[in-house]
Amino acid sequence: MAINAKKNPLNNKRINVAIIMDGNGRWALKNGFNISKGHKKGVEVVRKIVEESIKQNVASLTLYAFSSENWSRPKKEINAIKSLVISAIDEQIPELIEQKVRLNFFGHLEDFGEKIINKIKSAEAKTSFKKAKLDLNVALGYGGKQDILDIVKDISAKVLLKEIKLKDINNEIILSASSVPVNNIDLLIRTGGDKRISNFLLLQIAYAELAFIEKYWPDFTAEDFRACLDNFKKVSRRFGKRI
Ligand code: IPE
Ligand code: IPE
Ligand code: MG
Repeated sequence: MAINAKKNPLNNKRINVAIIMDGNGRWALKNGFNISKGHKKGVEVVRKIVEESIKQNVASLTLYAFSSENWSRPKKEINAIKSLVISAIDEQIPELIEQKVRLNFFGHLEDFGEKIINKIKSAEAKTSFKKAKLDLNVALGYGGKQDILDIVKDISAKVLLKEIKLKDINNEIILSASSVPVNNIDLLIRTGGDKRISNFLLLQIAYAELAFIEKYWPDFTAEDFRACLDNFKKVSRRFGKRI
């Protein structure tokens, strides 16, 4: 048992972590760069946090890369983010394959155009390990409210087609109709100092522990991430029970 505990820094309970990677823009402005440079630095941090997640035996890492609301940003910034998605996949795929990381994108990907969709499909196919060391889920063009709307439409259609009975709809069916690949987030981290959810994983964070970090995402380090995991381990999760 002791050997296992040593091997597994999270004491054998593999957790699902989600991150709202906020603060790229403010980091860039603070350092005298353009906004795109902030997003570029942000991608480098993703690489380090993925590595640390594997070391810490995290089960899944779900990252908020682009929200449905982010479409209202300047076209120039959106184009820079689109290019970054493509270059990040190209640059990181060999390492992700070597590390046995299963990559999965979710959200309204169709809004990003064929080039990104093809890139994503190919990256997912190359990393579709049966036994992955980490599930890396990336939210792109995702919004929690939109996801709920899609779930309602999906289940309603099934009821109308008599594929499901109204009385049989349950939480499991709702979560499996969601585009989000993980059902229960244990720990949600947001960098950048703001204490809000910004339309991320509304259903899946129902019982998540929340960590709000002051640092901007490009300044976030593997040590900061480990500190979040260590704090998580100290929390008593009661789930409504008297214990
Ligand atoms: C988060 O950083 C990344 C995206 C939303 C794409 P921001 O770009 O929101 O950074 P701030 O909040 O403006 O500093
Ligand atoms: C949330 O950050 C979205 C991502 C990190 C991708 P935003 O910067 O878009 O959120 P708000 O506008 O501060 O709520
Ligand atoms: Mg922001």
